[in-house]
Amino acid sequence: MSFTVAIDGPAAAGKGTISKAVAAHFGFAHLDTGLLYRAVGAKVLTGAEPIAAAEALMAEDLEADNLRTPEVAQAASKVAVIAEVRAALVAFQQTFARRAGGAVLDGRDIGTVICPDAEAKLFVTASAEVRAERRYLELAAKGHKDTREEVLADVKARDERDTNRAEAPLKAADNAILIDTSDLSIEDAVARAVAEIEARL
Ligand code: C5P
Repeated sequence: MSFTVAIDGPAAAGKGTISKAVAAHFGFAHLDTGLLYRAVGAKVLTGAEPIAAAEALMAEDLEADNLRTPEVAQAASKVAVIAEVRAALVAFQQTFARRAGGAVLDGRDIGTVICPDAEAKLFVTASAEVRAERRYLELAAKGHKDTREEVLADVKARDERDTNRAEAPLKAADNAILIDTSDLSIEDAVARAVAEIEARL
């Protein structure tokens, strides 16, 4: 039996943390779909052509250790506007979503485009300032030298591109449950997500 949890939202809203915790809680597999676009973006930064890179993408590319940088995030959001890039990544995500034993996928278009029939859909958001501060602290902890202003500009640029693109723009599915994490602790946000999914099992 399959059970799909779709978790969408803008950068650094807490999707990743919530998705990992929810997957661990229910024993579901987890796919961070941003990694697919980051892996394509990383290849483009080294000279690859985006559509060919997306079509040739392999599972081990998602484990490259350079995918969490701001440069790769920007490159990812640029390749993510290309319809053929998105199309090349659909089958992998849909197969993952329907694996036996349950799956959590987080991204921008999971509840709207990839898994419109997901059993549970969450849209996780927070103000741009709160999200930029979280991302700043995360990057600083990893030794990145980016300033608060640079991180906020990066978050806003990606929001703008992800929300306004023609192809699979970032938006909440009509039947998604909204979780605003601006004023929530991680524990409270996770508890809220777990309770909403529990109610749909
Ligand atoms: O989630 P993450 O920040 O890793 O995603 C990187 C970029 O990949 C996003 O800014 C977005 O442009 C793109 N993306 C997407 N659709 C998804 C996941 C990520 O367009 N499902």
